[in-house]
Amino acid sequence: MKIVMAIIKPFKLEEVRDALTGIGVHGLTVTEVKGYGRQKGHTEIYRGAEYAVSFLPKLKIEVAVAGDLVTSVIDAIAGAARTGQIGDGKIFVMPLEKAVRIRTGETDVDAL
Ligand SMILES: Nc1ncnc2c1ncn2[C@@H]1O[C@H](COP(=O)(O)OP(=O)(O)OP(=O)(O)O)[C@@H](O)[C@H]1O
Ligand SMILES: [Mg+2]
Repeated sequence: MKIVMAIIKPFKLEEVRDALTGIGVHGLTVTEVKGYGRQKGHTEIYRGAEYAVSFLPKLKIEVAVAGDLVTSVIDAIAGAARTGQIGDGKIFVMPLEKAVRIRTGETDVDAL
């Protein structure tokens, strides 16, 4: 199992959720976050100018998935979240050791 964590532009949430639902993802956690990437939160960097970092509002999405779904989850998120402009975000994948569905006691892939 893996945790797929994606940082996306906030207005892309509905499209990303629809894309994930379309490939059979049943659950999703969303958190409001702030961050910056290579442009340090600015749309332009002037040569030689020293710029303070600006944090921009983003959404963090976390999805726990069976290992064999990871590629399609990445494709779904990237396809739905991409505008082609800077700041579209990033996707990180981490190993997931254990999952428990609290109501039923199911574990691991059965719990997702
Ligand atoms: N190396 C990183 N580690 C953790 N979070 C990151 C990293 N890079 C980007 N992020 C997060 O992703 C958000 C979007 O990053 P962004 O898409 O601007 O990356 P970028 O590398 O600057 O790419 P682009 O040139 O397309 O803008 C950031 O605001 C930050 O929250
Ligand atoms: Mg950027």
